[in-house]
Amino acid sequence: MKLTKYLNSVLLILVVMATLSCSSEQDEMDHVDSLINQMTLDEKIGQMNQLMNFVDSLPIDPYFYNLIKEGQVGSVLNAFSPEMIHEMQRIAVQESRLGIPLLIGRDIIHGYRTIFPVNIGLAATFNPQLVKECAEIAAMEARSEGVNWTFAPMMDISRDPRWGRMVESCGEDPYLAEQMAVASIKGFQGDDLSNKNSIAATAKHYVGYGAAIGGRDYNTTLIPEAELRNVYLRPFKAAVQADVASVMSGFNELNGVPTSGNVYTIRNILKNEWGFKGFVVSDWASVKNLQVHGFAKDSMDATEKAFIAGVDMDMCSSYFIDNLKSLVENGIVKEELIDNAVRRILKVKFDLDLFDKPYATEGNKLLTEQALDLAKKTVIQSAVLLQNKNNVLPLSKNIKKVAVIGPLADAPHEQMGTWVFDGKEENSITPLKAIIDFLGEERVIYSPGLETSRTIDKKGLNDAIKTAQNADVVLLFMGDESILTGEAHCRAELTLPGCQNELIHEISKLGKPTVLVMMTGVILMVEPILGKVDALLYGWHPGTMGGPGYVDLLFGIESPSGKLPMTFPRTEGQIPVYYNHNNTGHPPSDESWIRMYDIPVKAWQTSLGNTSHYLDYGFEPLFEFGFGLSYTEFQYSDIKLSKKVISKNDTLVVAAKIKNIGGVKADDVAQLYVRDLVGSIVRPVKELKGFKRIRLNPGEEKIVEFMLSSEDLTFHDGEKWHVEPGEFHVWIGNSSKASLMTKFELK
Ligand code: GLC
Repeated sequence: MKLTKYLNSVLLILVVMATLSCSSEQDEMDHVDSLINQMTLDEKIGQMNQLMNFVDSLPIDPYFYNLIKEGQVGSVLNAFSPEMIHEMQRIAVQESRLGIPLLIGRDIIHGYRTIFPVNIGLAATFNPQLVKECAEIAAMEARSEGVNWTFAPMMDISRDPRWGRMVESCGEDPYLAEQMAVASIKGFQGDDLSNKNSIAATAKHYVGYGAAIGGRDYNTTLIPEAELRNVYLRPFKAAVQADVASVMSGFNELNGVPTSGNVYTIRNILKNEWGFKGFVVSDWASVKNLQVHGFAKDSMDATEKAFIAGVDMDMCSSYFIDNLKSLVENGIVKEELIDNAVRRILKVKFDLDLFDKPYATEGNKLLTEQALDLAKKTVIQSAVLLQNKNNVLPLSKNIKKVAVIGPLADAPHEQMGTWVFDGKEENSITPLKAIIDFLGEERVIYSPGLETSRTIDKKGLNDAIKTAQNADVVLLFMGDESILTGEAHCRAELTLPGCQNELIHEISKLGKPTVLVMMTGVILMVEPILGKVDALLYGWHPGTMGGPGYVDLLFGIESPSGKLPMTFPRTEGQIPVYYNHNNTGHPPSDESWIRMYDIPVKAWQTSLGNTSHYLDYGFEPLFEFGFGLSYTEFQYSDIKLSKKVISKNDTLVVAAKIKNIGGVKADDVAQLYVRDLVGSIVRPVKELKGFKRIRLNPGEEKIVEFMLSSEDLTFHDGEKWHVEPGEFHVWIGNSSKASLMTKFELK
């Protein structure tokens, strides 16, 4: 009897809660609709207009002031100061007819004032929880200055290191990208957008931007439907399921149709098929760019095409504010479609509680100890140890003399990386400073060697060599200035810029233990220098706490644990090279590789193995996806399945033993890969379907478990989704070269 009563009361509570949440949702929509009913057409279109105020100090220039006051601006972006943000918001709230608050947008890509490692480095942590915490800190800091919307996370799948924006991505894998995207969205938006420290997030750049031909930013993308569904759309679908508040349409043209004018991707897939309830903002003037693409004949045509495709807010082209009204008055665009767009935008403003709390959140602090500790922890988990010959790392704390060399060793601005509007270089702790703090001035000698990463003047090399001669160990900090990465900054050649390679070569002649820490946001071609250094730690652009994070790794307080989120080619000529490729009908092998200089003169053309490789560089990348060394060693064994045969409704448990067989405590990232041997379209040779970061003491052993469902085995064939019976291989290991494998059958 008691149990029934208990269950009844639980049921009652659930019903009440559900009713309340629906009713609050309904209340909100009633609010939105009642506001829309009061709005003129001009005011409605004003909400769909986002502008940047280029005057960088108060007072707000009269033109911009009036636009806001007349309700012609729904959102501003990248304002120059919190004071300007406050004043623009004040005008909107207190002086416009309806007092509708502004969405204050900003590129908060990897931190606000506390700058975390660039996003490709955050992906290398394989730690979504950590990435969520970084987004939480960024959101709290942003709200403290009145910002309530970030144009992040970027979730473009990136398979081409020549693409400068790989720095903002989570790399080549859709599963890793979706896990990181959802983590960031939850961090930015919290569990309720109305929280005082939540900000609206943006899933960008919708869609396929990273597939730019030649890795050249803004270039054409040609993506077949199956690839679009199975790879590029995956993270965005997960973002929509995570209730992301907005989506940003991209710059790229996808199969001939620009993504900011693409009815199929925006209206059909995003809004209709997926039921996305937020709003779509264009990328910067990408509405106007429809003309440049040759997709629209004039501004009116561009406006119509972007709006009909499903763009709700126009970033900085002013085409919506200039043209939409006449499109409505000429009967080309129905006002109810305008209302739908405005409804989406106003809903986010209500969700953010901006009508009650339009201004900065009081009391939030920037650069708190918690924020800086998290930033340091993220540096530690993002760095990837790619080589450690003779176990030169970790260094002894009792080392007598360390030479710190290189143009990135004391470059507080550069180490923050690209997309840093609010980070300040005076807050950066550089590698040089952190090493001096750790060892004391007397044990550290320093020479930049080169003024910047691009310096080709060799006058500083001698000083660097002399400095290195007087040390027991040489620590090189090389890579890129931050401006050499990011939007519109792509390179056809990815060798270290300037004469850094020469500096490394000269230092290597000294025969001293040499450690290279690479500080960049992209994948540089490091094969030519691997033989010249003992250790290579890929530290990305590490942000504010780069120095302290590196010190903990270099001196063994922590072991490196980062894993590569993108394949490292041996040379640019191998690009694109990524782990989740198809097998082809002529898969390469070591045996079948015809090495260019082994071919007999006048060999008969078909006398050698015909497989998919390069005569000069073979087929293997330099470092594979998921790779990263540690100061210890992990052994994987005993892979087991809960069943050998599963049906579509089963969940399969895949487990393996992981043991720390080395001498230091460390994290490893256990990774689960699957291969569908035969499909109605061919399936990749491996696909990441799970990962877990695990900390083990020396000698400690744990069982790592993953769950696989038929959902995980589903793929799109260009027409529809399938999950097909047949044999599957499954691996557990700590890189995409995992060899511990077993098989199961899907009935
Ligand atoms: C830029 C970028 C986009 C950014 C926007 C606002 O061109 O493509 O990622 O959010 O403009 O700065």
